[in-house]
Amino acid sequence: MSAPLRIGLPKGRILDDAGELFRAAGVDLAPLRADKRRLIHPLEAEGLGPVEVLVLRASDVAPYVEHGACAVGVVGNDTLEEQQPDVLWPLDLGIGRCRMCVAGLPGVDPFSLEQPRIATKYGRVAKAHFSARGLDAHIIELSGAIELAPLVGLADAIVDIVETGETLRQNGLVVHEPIFDVSARLVVNRAALRLQMAAVRGLLERLEAAVAAREEAP
Ligand code: PRP
Repeated sequence: MSAPLRIGLPKGRILDDAGELFRAAGVDLAPLRADKRRLIHPLEAEGLGPVEVLVLRASDVAPYVEHGACAVGVVGNDTLEEQQPDVLWPLDLGIGRCRMCVAGLPGVDPFSLEQPRIATKYGRVAKAHFSARGLDAHIIELSGAIELAPLVGLADAIVDIVETGETLRQNGLVVHEPIFDVSARLVVNRAALRLQMAAVRGLLERLEAAVAAREEAP
């Protein structure tokens, strides 16, 4: 019997949106909702054989895939740009869309400062963005509620994802500059592409078709 195709999915919003695409691709994620404390979910996917789904923190999916603990996973390109894992990212799933931005208080232009203090969960992305503008940003790495930092004088600006813009609005902050568009990507372990070729390709092709059908829908 072939080894199960192990899929790493991020918990939260992306998991809800991914459910529809994976169902269309023949992998029904409904059992995940029924048993939230279970860490490994064995599933049967018709035509793909046995599947195991691991529900992970968003920032842990790429390491699981890079090191081969999962053959495939779903990760935002915000996290991929930050972590730079050695994985393939062959498909844009078109879900979890948002934007990586420089944001802050309307009166404070971080690009006018010699060494702006930037609060972020995305230190590498932020450093590179300011560096490309000729600025040596001082990065303050935080793990949540980034918007608080400029409000209390901890930072001159932030680099963070903006989805609806509501968090910024409610805190009197504005986008200074968009950096790149973000969406969830299917990522694949390099070796799994050879070792589990039929299952990986099968899932990839089905998800491609599901994404195309979703984009064509009115
Ligand atoms: C993200 C991000 C912003 C918010 C943006 O945080 O860090 O705070 O979403 O969304 P909006 O533009 O629709 O308001 P998340 O909810 O992932 O929580 P976190 O701060 O714990 O990372």
